[in-house]
Amino acid sequence: MNPQQETQLNAIYNEATANDDNIIAILQQIQNTFGYVDKEAVLWFARKMGVPVSKFYGVVTFYGQFHLTPRGKNIVTVCCGTVCHVKGAPKVISKLKEELKLKGEDMTTRDMLFTVENVNCVGACSIAPVVIVNDKVFGKQSGDKMVKNLKSFREEVAA
Ligand code: FES
Repeated sequence: MNPQQETQLNAIYNEATANDDNIIAILQQIQNTFGYVDKEAVLWFARKMGVPVSKFYGVVTFYGQFHLTPRGKNIVTVCCGTVCHVKGAPKVISKLKEELKLKGEDMTTRDMLFTVENVNCVGACSIAPVVIVNDKVFGKQSGDKMVKNLKSFREEVAA
């Protein structure tokens, strides 16, 4: 852990203790600061607070909002609810993984530009299959359409 990270953790700690915050709030702050729940940060807090590490991970695994690995700049969320599944979500995911050169269990590109995730029904079944990139919704998608749609997100970074 470098001095800058240590300073960031101390700032989170000071705010948490001042506000009598709980583990969830601390984990949210860690994730907001580092983009994910960094293992070293969790160990640092466990030691500092005298709380077992398992207590932190218990919260992390209970709530779906926490991520234990770094995520890309753009989050590509493919709905895999029943309707989207039937209408081709698995093909969309395969095409996206092929296009982004994601092998096996890898879901984040090496350049950290994209992370592909899947979720259950996002409540827009009438436009299935649905893909959400950050907060932009794309309905009635195919793998090829999504490959085209991702271009604008690449160009945003290049600009
Ligand atoms: S199953 Fe995908 S929006 Fe409902």
